[in-house]
Amino acid sequence: MFRSMSPIDRSAYGVTAALLSLAFACTPSSGAAEAPREPGSPASADQGTAEQATAEQPVSLSAKYAQYFPIGAAVDPGSYQTHAALLERHFNSITTENEMKFESLQKTEGVFDYTAADTMVAYARSHGMKVRGHALVWHRQTPDWVFKDGSGAPVSKAGLLSRLKSHIDHVVGHFKGSVYAWDVVNEAIMDDGKYRTANEAEADQRSPWHGILGTSYIAEAFKYAHAADPDAKLFYNEYRNYIPEKRQAVYEMLKQLLADGVPVHGVGLQCHLSIEPSQVQGNHGYYQTVKELETTIELYSSLGLDVQVTELDLSLYVPGIKYTPDQYYTTATFTPELAAKQAARYGEFFELFRKHRSQITGVTFWGIADDNTWLSEFSSGRKDFPLLFDAEHRPKPAFERVTTF
Ligand code: G3I
Repeated sequence: MFRSMSPIDRSAYGVTAALLSLAFACTPSSGAAEAPREPGSPASADQGTAEQATAEQPVSLSAKYAQYFPIGAAVDPGSYQTHAALLERHFNSITTENEMKFESLQKTEGVFDYTAADTMVAYARSHGMKVRGHALVWHRQTPDWVFKDGSGAPVSKAGLLSRLKSHIDHVVGHFKGSVYAWDVVNEAIMDDGKYRTANEAEADQRSPWHGILGTSYIAEAFKYAHAADPDAKLFYNEYRNYIPEKRQAVYEMLKQLLADGVPVHGVGLQCHLSIEPSQVQGNHGYYQTVKELETTIELYSSLGLDVQVTELDLSLYVPGIKYTPDQYYTTATFTPELAAKQAARYGEFFELFRKHRSQITGVTFWGIADDNTWLSEFSSGRKDFPLLFDAEHRPKPAFERVTTF
């Protein structure tokens, strides 16, 4: 989606950021077309010469990580233009934030609208960026018609499977050769390790896919996607994979899918992280440690699956604490101390990702800069500052931290 740029306001760490920005200023894109690289393959000659920051030749995040993994960003139809300088300088992969979801591509049965997604894919390809597809099957952002028959009653199993197949055939077929990896199924397991069903307490947590098809929709979706594009890497994507019960349940599910010959190639760790783990035992954030995430990476890769970090950001808010509006962060209260703390935490996770470079085939941020993040979009008006670049598109201390090694 296109969120308007926030007004330029002075952050408390503005002096630090301004100094950094002198050294890390963005350069305009060359606009040169080049073929997307395979994960881990060397960066282009242009990026390869930009690894060291100088006033004339600023460091590029994706070049710095060229021997590790591609660096991606979720983009929307506005941000790939408004943030083009950052995107083209620092990222070599994109994910469309909402534009490849079911409701975006097939709002009405049989009517596919690829306009927004196609434009973004064309942009990525013309800048040598890889494209991850997100997401074919999810309990959210899927139109109601998918689950209903002509009279408004729940559609039959056969009817829903046919719609699932038709959607995947069309979409994966359409992007064949452009999208190298798909999040085929998103968020099928709850934090307690049980499958997400149609009976979850909160309405927006319910899965009509499971309600009608049981767990069978998961395997079928992967099979349909593989048939539509045998070359695409197919991922199961999930959040809070560091919770032990959830991690284990995802592992068991993937293991069974593989044993059944289902074409699953990788697992996505969303990694919507926080500035520190929760102190509240039992809260999901209690397990949000580097150690737990490392266990997750090792467990999933023991199945021979690729691991990708698919939706990385690092919120200032700690799970388990109830913040009131007077405690919400602003650019004025995002102090140098907080920025340093965020940088240190980002640094620890990137150290982990680098350590596991042989298992991790991509790291994607869920956004580009702090002026355009889903975490600031809640109706509460709560602002967050979760990315490596600030609202003025200057590199934050976290950027320096993850590029210093
Ligand atoms: O498109 C409508 C627009 O027409 C309307 O005017 C506007 C009014 O609110 O809403 C727009 O839809 C919004 C949509 O984003 C596109 O902008 C929805 O309200 C909003 O809920 C939706 O939020 C997206 C969210 O997924 C939906 O669950 C976020 O942008 C997107 O960042 C977020 O991404 C998810 C991943 O797909 C899966 N993992 C978690 C991640 C963060 O929640």
